Amino acid sequence: MATRNLLFSLFCFFLLCLFSGEQQVVEATRGSPFAFKPKKLFVFGDSYADTGNNRKALASSWKFPYGITFPGKPAGRFSDGRVLTDFVAEYFGIKTPIPYRWRKELSGRLKYGVNFAYGGTGVFQTLSPEPNMTVQIDFLEQLLNESVYTKRGLKSAVALVSLAGNDYNTYLFNNGTAACLSNQYASCGQGLPAFIASVVGQLTVNLKRIHDLGVRKVAVTSLQPLGCLPRSTAQFSFQQCNGEENNGVNLHNQLLAQAVNTLNKQTNSTSFFVVDVYNAFWTVINRKNQAHQVSPSFENPLKPCCVGVSAAFSCGSVDEKGVKQYTLCTNPKSTFFWDTFHPTQQGWAAVYSTEALQNSLKQLY
Ligand SMILES: *[C@@H]1O[C@H](CO)[C@@H](O)[C@H](O)[C@H]1NC(C)=O
Ligand SMILES: *[C@@H]1O[C@H](CO)[C@@H](O)[C@H](O)[C@H]1NC(C)=O
Ligand SMILES: *[C@@H]1O[C@H](CO)[C@@H](O)[C@H](O)[C@H]1NC(C)=O
Ligand SMILES: *[C@@H]1O[C@H](CO)[C@@H](O)[C@H](O)[C@H]1NC(C)=O
Repeated sequence: MATRNLLFSLFCFFLLCLFSGEQQVVEATRGSPFAFKPKKLFVFGDSYADTGNNRKALASSWKFPYGITFPGKPAGRFSDGRVLTDFVAEYFGIKTPIPYRWRKELSGRLKYGVNFAYGGTGVFQTLSPEPNMTVQIDFLEQLLNESVYTKRGLKSAVALVSLAGNDYNTYLFNNGTAACLSNQYASCGQGLPAFIASVVGQLTVNLKRIHDLGVRKVAVTSLQPLGCLPRSTAQFSFQQCNGEENNGVNLHNQLLAQAVNTLNKQTNSTSFFVVDVYNAFWTVINRKNQAHQVSPSFENPLKPCCVGVSAAFSCGSVDEKGVKQYTLCTNPKSTFFWDTFHPTQQGWAAVYSTEALQNSLKQLY
């Protein structure tokens, strides 16, 4: 009887442990007084995250009609309005960090972090002359060296790292045959898988370095389905994705998931996590086929709002006389894509509201 009681209470104790363990997990989430409250956001990468670093002379993001929804004029975001950075900052309860190029003019806002992302860049040299990710991380290291930030101060910081495929565009441009350039990936030769591995390898080095500088949590985007971007679906009248192109994307994302696991093991932590932009894009793109429409959804998610009148022109292009060489939809809220590569603000809102993205961001806590 006594033994039974003992066993029973041990059993209860065990249950209690389980239960209180679970309590702790629940408590350690957003909004709890014990939760990690990020105070600063540092952003690295490309146009999916850039909020104004690109030089005006170089980037379409400074041309009308970019920025027409927010802030109401072109301001360096590659969209009609807000981009991934703005939504992620909002989720973490931080003001959108200022672009690095404005660090002197807007130094009062350095307390929220800095956005080091430059549209068009990648981990290696791309077709853009702007700083690659290594140099972007040097900028943060320099701010530490100048005591603008301290290593201790970065304990309350989180990093968002965006890689949306500029390295791959550059690879295809440099190494591709004509067929390969029109996105027939099978004709790109044996080199592509090895190149994908080297991109993820360099990305992994970068993530580790950001963590070693003292940033507590490092979030990295998975690669969106490149074959579903309007520049690839134009050949199918924006009716279907290029499946072949998405095969390379899957390899990138598999290698990235493995790398993030390895980094967490090496650092004996949960410091690194993937922001699942890939599945978020898929969810939104496939929504039109669902019987039960979830808001926001788009009539044809593959068709962009702003496109050049021919392949020689892009959104925002004008000819020598200043005549616009692009067409603009009447309501950017009605399309998922803004131009041939980037979502609209409403598109990013839809991506942000997916379960895939919300569940990813929860990994911060
Ligand atoms: C990044 O850019 C710098 C400066 O152009 C260059 O020296 C470096 O090799 C580049 N890094 C990578 C990984 O390509
Ligand atoms: C920061 O300081 C360290 C130590 O002096 C130095 O090795 C490193 O090159 C500096 N980094 C930058 C980006 O200036
Ligand atoms: C692709 O081109 C780049 C230069 O643009 C070169 O460094 C690289 O080795 C090439 N890769 C392959 C697999 O040919
Ligand atoms: C990893 O962290 C756990 C929990 O903090 C600790 O018990 C363990 O000793 C650590 N292992 C290593 C290899 O640092």
